[in-house]
Amino acid sequence: MLEGKKIVLGITGSIAAYKSCLIIRQLIKKGAEVQVVITPAGKEFITPITLSALTHKPVISEFFSQRDGTWHSHVDLGLWADAMLIAPATASSIGKMAHGIADNMLITTYLSMKAPVFIAPAMDLDMYAHSSTQENLKTLQSYGNQIIEPGTGFLASKLEGKGRMEEPENIVKVLECFFARQESSSKLAGKKVLITAGPTYEKIDPVRFIGNYSSGKMGFALAEECAARGAQVELVCGPVSASMQTLHPNIHRIDVESAQEMYEACMGLFPSMKSAILCAAVADFTPITVASEKIKRTGEDMVIRLKPNPDIAASLGKVKQEGQLLVGFALETNDEESNAQAKLKKKNFDFIVLNSLKDQGAGFRTDTNKITIIAADGKTDYPLKPKSEVARDIVDRMEAMMPDGMAV
Ligand code: PMT
Repeated sequence: MLEGKKIVLGITGSIAAYKSCLIIRQLIKKGAEVQVVITPAGKEFITPITLSALTHKPVISEFFSQRDGTWHSHVDLGLWADAMLIAPATASSIGKMAHGIADNMLITTYLSMKAPVFIAPAMDLDMYAHSSTQENLKTLQSYGNQIIEPGTGFLASKLEGKGRMEEPENIVKVLECFFARQESSSKLAGKKVLITAGPTYEKIDPVRFIGNYSSGKMGFALAEECAARGAQVELVCGPVSASMQTLHPNIHRIDVESAQEMYEACMGLFPSMKSAILCAAVADFTPITVASEKIKRTGEDMVIRLKPNPDIAASLGKVKQEGQLLVGFALETNDEESNAQAKLKKKNFDFIVLNSLKDQGAGFRTDTNKITIIAADGKTDYPLKPKSEVARDIVDRMEAMMPDGMAV
C-alpha cells in the first residue's frame, strides 16, 4: 500500500520527535519515499543528520539552503506529496496550522499541501485537554485534516486522549489503511458524482436574505470521500464560509446562492452523472418580490409573501434514469422516520440519510453527525461520528447499491 508513495513528514519540537525515526524506518521499509520538513524547535530534539541518513534526502527546515542558497519550494512539496504526516505535532504548531501563521517552512508547506494531511498530536495531558488545543484540532478537522488520536491508533472519533503521541506502528497503519481505501477498486473510480452542500440564500432586498444554519461540512466531507475513491465530483455549493475549501483535485466546485440557481446547476449536470447526493439545506420558499433598495422601517408590521422554490430532489427524481443513483437527506425535528420515509418515496431517492436536530452533535454546523440510512429494504442506525466517517458510511452504502462494472 505504501510502495512508491511520497510522504512529507513534518516534525515539530516535542520530545516525541525521536519517534519520527521509527516512523521513517517503517515507511521506507514499506517502500515509501519520505521528505522530512522540520521546525526550528524540532531540530532541538533530533538532528537533521540522523533524519537525512534515514530518508537518504536532505532535511528541509529553512526557506533557503544555508550552504548554497537553493530555494526550497513549499509549493512544489505540496504538489509532490501523496500525503503529509505531521508527527509529532505540538500544541504550538497545531495552533499555527489552524490559524495560518506561516512563520516556518513546515507551516508554509502545510498551507500549500494538496494531499491529505494526517496529524499526530504530542503534548502533555493538560495542554492537550485545554480548550484552545481542542478548538484548534476541531478547526483542523473541519479543514479535512485527519487527527491520529493518541492512544488508539485509529483516526479520531472523538477529540479526547492522553496527549502522548500515538505509537509509530499505529501511525503507519493509519496511512496504510488510507492508501488501501484509496486503491481498493472502488466502483466510484472514474464515475461522475453530483453533490449539493450548504444553505441557500433567498434575497429579500440588497442587504437581507432568508437562509439557514447549514455550514456545508457534511456535503464537503461527502465530496472529499467520493473524490478519494476516484470519482469526479461536481460540488454545487450554496454560500458557505471562506474557510470551507475543498482539498482533492477531483472536486469541481460550483458556487450558487439561491435555490433557483442550485436547481439550474443540478438539472444541467444530472443527466451526465452516475449518482447524486443531495445534502444541501435548500430553502423551500423564496420572496415573491425582491426589493431593489433596502427596505426601511415604517413602525408597522412587515409581511413578506413567499412562493415555493423548485424541489431539486423531486425534479431529479423525476428524470432519474435506469442505473443512476439518487441519495437524499432528511433533516427532521419530529416524527423523524415517518417523515424520512415519505421523502424517500416522494422524491424517488434510492436511499435517504436521516439526521435529527434532537440528537446532540448531529445536523447543522457540528463536526459530527448521527444518521440513519433508510432504503426500501429497511434501515440502519449509525452512532455519532465525525462527518468524515459518516461520509464514508454513506458512500459505502451507495457503492453497495451500484451494479458491478457500471459504465461512466
Ligand atoms: O451543512 P452542515 O452544517 O454540515 O449540516 C448538514 C445538514 C444538516 C444540512 C445535512 O446533514 C442535511 O440534513 N441536509 C438536508 C437538509 C434538508 O434540507 O433536508 P429536507 O428534509 O428539508 O430536504 C429533503 C431533501 O430534499 C434533501 O436532500 C434536500 O437537499 C432536498 N431538497 C429540499 C428542498 C428543495 N427545495 N430541494 C431539495 O433538493
